Amino acid sequence: MEEKQLVSSFCLCARIMPLNLYLCPMQILDGKIASQAVKEKLKSTVAHLVAEGKRPPHLAVIIVGNNGASETYVASKVKNCAEIGFGSTLIRLDNDVPESVLLQQIETLNNDPAIDGILVQLPLPKHISEPKVIETISADKDVDGFHPVSVGKLVQGLPTFVPATPYGIMLMLEYYQISTKGKHAVIIGRSNIVGRPMSILLSSSHAYGNCTVTVCHSHTPNLKEFCLQADILVAALGKPEFVTADMVKPGAIVIDVGITRVADATAAKGFKIKGDVAFEQVAPLTTAITPVPGGVGLMTIAGLLQNTLQAYLNKFN
Ligand code: GUN
Repeated sequence: MEEKQLVSSFCLCARIMPLNLYLCPMQILDGKIASQAVKEKLKSTVAHLVAEGKRPPHLAVIIVGNNGASETYVASKVKNCAEIGFGSTLIRLDNDVPESVLLQQIETLNNDPAIDGILVQLPLPKHISEPKVIETISADKDVDGFHPVSVGKLVQGLPTFVPATPYGIMLMLEYYQISTKGKHAVIIGRSNIVGRPMSILLSSSHAYGNCTVTVCHSHTPNLKEFCLQADILVAALGKPEFVTADMVKPGAIVIDVGITRVADATAAKGFKIKGDVAFEQVAPLTTAITPVPGGVGLMTIAGLLQNTLQAYLNKFN
């Protein structure tokens, strides 16, 4: 927490309230700093395990095909494992791999006692059933928290693997001690990976929950009206710069989950990473906001690593 960086850029809120123009302090919720704090703790735990003569936790990652964004995410997961002393195995399968071969590969990993966590990077090619793949992963090794058993436990408030992105956001809220109790959280997006589990976590009865939650999606009429009611706004719809200043209540906390590659000829890689929030115009309105890149994405990795340690510990306890 010592490193916690309050970017106290007292900024002029862009919105002029009746008769008063007011200042609001805005804090950048820095994923690099918060994820580093989580990773330092994990690294120290692994060092202790190894000093006791135990093996470190081990994550297996499967990637099918060569989607550019998936390649980047998977490389980052493997790199982060190495950084904290986890073992990892990366399995690459061709884009046209038969579903049966992928399922067999998962079964092999399920039965391998040296593997604690299994992650199959999504999305998968169209000929492969994602639900089937997710259900084939042993619930004990489901570090993505996507298995129906994990989701059921999450809904019931039982200990389980929490999907990495919502888990990472909760770790971020905890790191920056963002008070959530009694607040109105509005989530844009109802995916199984982010929006739905996020709604469960924020409405649950725990230190960084106890929100009243509204989940908005592509069929929500008057989306802007809901967003303007949000004390905490979570944008997880995958549309670059969708959330603009006119959709944000002054003083809100804004969590940007979007990571989209947008073509940009001036960028070295030919694209730029954009969030779901138009950061430049929204940030001055907020009390706290996550940047993209450098925000939620890094916390996702922290959530995954935390789940992998938990899978390992569950095995021996
Ligand atoms: N694709 C995008 N996010 C995720 C994630 O959290 N887990 C997996 N397995 N695939 C993803």
